[in-house]
Amino acid sequence: MDELKIFTGNAHPQLARAVTKYLDIPLGEAEVFQFSNDNIFVRILENVRSRDTFVIQPFSRPVNQNIVELLIMIDALKRASAGRITAVVPYYSYGRTDKKDQPRVPITARLIADLITVAGADRLLSVDFHAAQIQGFFNIPVDELTALDILSNHFKTKNIKDPVVVATDIGITKRARDMAARLNAPLAIMEKRRLGNIDKTETLNVIGEVKGKTAITIDDEIDTGGSLINTVSTLVERGAREVYACCTHPVFSGPAIERINASPVKEVVVTDTIPVNNGNKIDKITILPMAPLLGEAIHRIHTGMSVGAMFE
Ligand code: R5P
Repeated sequence: MDELKIFTGNAHPQLARAVTKYLDIPLGEAEVFQFSNDNIFVRILENVRSRDTFVIQPFSRPVNQNIVELLIMIDALKRASAGRITAVVPYYSYGRTDKKDQPRVPITARLIADLITVAGADRLLSVDFHAAQIQGFFNIPVDELTALDILSNHFKTKNIKDPVVVATDIGITKRARDMAARLNAPLAIMEKRRLGNIDKTETLNVIGEVKGKTAITIDDEIDTGGSLINTVSTLVERGAREVYACCTHPVFSGPAIERINASPVKEVVVTDTIPVNNGNKIDKITILPMAPLLGEAIHRIHTGMSVGAMFE
């Protein structure tokens, strides 16, 4: 397995190109397209026999199509005798369906893990799962990277006076505490409740002091932006001077961008695990690159170096 080969599906070729640029290798050649009957066709256009192969494919929109594309690419690599196949899924959609919290519901995050494994992946590389326990849904090695340093370093350069890091819900508290430690700031926690299975939430309480402070909210993803705008308006009501927001995965579905533009949030800082607006700038939204982190992790996996050491 002396040669490293990186391939991409159609989910986020810009990210795959940025990773290969970081590693100073060409992007592997493959044909990946859909026939008019929606069937996906894949052909790997170069020899991968015994090579160390990686497929970069976040589960961004169209989510289900991108998942199946990845599975078919893994199958193509396996049948082409690749030495090792690593699925690089910077955004693992369906991560929120990770437990049976109502009668007769599936655990789709586990089902997708099984599909990736059965397709033939030997390893998975991902970034900031919705819940770290998703690692355990896989029976193959998983490396979960975090964007925490990338996001924290962005705020460090701003020299924000009197900051408070705000966890947008209880589930993200640990990551928020880690960010607060990096920024030498106190922590506050929003107590959020999701209303049924629709994309609606309400904020019940704020635990911690935010009055007169500059709040930095953190979440794993911003989807419709509902949680974010509730959080921002609650913080403003409770006397926060300014509110910044950050998350790893900018899902930005439905009204998210209009909601962000209309809200008093000063800046929303995200990473490019998911393509946003075809790479064009959007007011208030800062997109930080993930390619150096992913590229470094791929280099370490390929050469047998520690990935954990990147975060020590
Ligand atoms: C859910 O628990 C996640 O951590 C996010 O808070 C959620 O995905 C945000 O969704 P939305 O932007 O639709 O409120």
